[in-house]
Amino acid sequence: MRLAVVGAGPVGLASAAVYALAGHRVTLVERDPGRLATLRAGRLPFHEDGLQRAWVNLSGSVEIVSALAAVPAPDLVVCCVGTPSLPTGASDLAQIDAVVTAMADLERSVLVVRSTVPPGTGQYFLPRLRAMGHGYVSHPEFLQEGTALQDSVAPNRLIAGVEDPALAESVFALYPGAHCPRLVVDVTTAELVKIASNAHLAMRISFINEMALLAERVGADIGRVADGMGLDPRIGPAYLRAGLGYGGSCFPKDVRALAALSQSLGMHSQMLQAVMDLNARLPLEMTQRLEARLGDLAGRRIAIWGLAFKPGTDDTRESQAVRLAECLCARGAEVRVHDPVAGCPGHLDGATSYDDALEAIERAEALVLATEWPDYRQMEPASVAERMAAPRFVLDARNALPARAWESAGLEYRGVGRQGARAGVGV
Ligand code: UGA
Repeated sequence: MRLAVVGAGPVGLASAAVYALAGHRVTLVERDPGRLATLRAGRLPFHEDGLQRAWVNLSGSVEIVSALAAVPAPDLVVCCVGTPSLPTGASDLAQIDAVVTAMADLERSVLVVRSTVPPGTGQYFLPRLRAMGHGYVSHPEFLQEGTALQDSVAPNRLIAGVEDPALAESVFALYPGAHCPRLVVDVTTAELVKIASNAHLAMRISFINEMALLAERVGADIGRVADGMGLDPRIGPAYLRAGLGYGGSCFPKDVRALAALSQSLGMHSQMLQAVMDLNARLPLEMTQRLEARLGDLAGRRIAIWGLAFKPGTDDTRESQAVRLAECLCARGAEVRVHDPVAGCPGHLDGATSYDDALEAIERAEALVLATEWPDYRQMEPASVAERMAAPRFVLDARNALPARAWESAGLEYRGVGRQGARAGVGV
């Protein structure tokens, strides 16, 4: 098939790569001139190792253009554009609207929407598309940043939300090598499957974080609690890592969008509100832990390791680590940050960024591990202790460090939902 893939973010690039590998004729449409130039130079506009390697191999076989009009008669227009939050929390569908408008110049085609959209979006665009003679498929993606390519090559499920079941087959034909369950449903159902999946995962994270706060009060170890809960096949172990909460371009936006949709339909979602409230509270909770240990934070030197919203990416959108840095800067602390890949967002001008993790902790009274990059786990605790100043307080906000080794090196270790060196002790 001849495909136009619109939007060169992780979803668009991973999709384009997988379709090209399957032998389809793929043209990538990216309107941002900076991104376009980077891609044409064989590089990605963001950090993702697997995708970068695939792109280097594939860039010759994927054409890149700046407008849909430059793609001759695509069978499918695969829409992977952003749907950021509006101030109300609802999703901004302007970029999808622009793709629909651009389809007016095409012969008969099908818009396949991979972007995450609130339920009802397809029904909103369908009359316009039908009038132009085009079809519509909601085909949500379930890939994670950092493993976008692997998740696209071997998806855990393929969902097609359609009015005409024949269109589902065209979409499934994009993945000849995929051996996973396939579900054909109506358009709105497919949209809700995607956004409800993200909201559910966010809910698990907020739930385990609430349990972590409780575990501290009752003297339990949240890591072992999650292990025990996860052994129940009805619960499973995934997304039960307690810590600083969720961030990124998906969970926060999608939970907000779902809550805003419920609200607009006269239904206040107490569940989603609780998920958001708990998550928003965590950077503040960590700040209060620092205050409880150090007292007034004004002028106190505090280091933060990790700025990306999770390891493996340079994405700092809605990062809880950045939120924590903001809280500390607002209290007048001298904030020193390090991330192996992510840069310091411009608005964090109160914080100083260091290329070297050890330099960032030089004479710091406290260190917060905010993103669990493997690099930090491999740090020599004695070198850390040597660099830091008393009380050498280490707040492991992702429960990622080997607590006993760090305590033995003279560091005052505190995790989340567990007690110091007792953490992770098996019985
Ligand atoms: C998420 C979903 O996992 C994907 O299935 C979905 O396709 C994607 O959004 C999307 O909508 O495009 P992603 O945003 O890449 O993927 O991030 P995750 O790996 O799911 O992590 C999200 C956040 O949750 C991170 O901040 C991570 O640190 C946090 N997290 C995750 C926890 O705090 N605890 C956990 O147990 C798991």
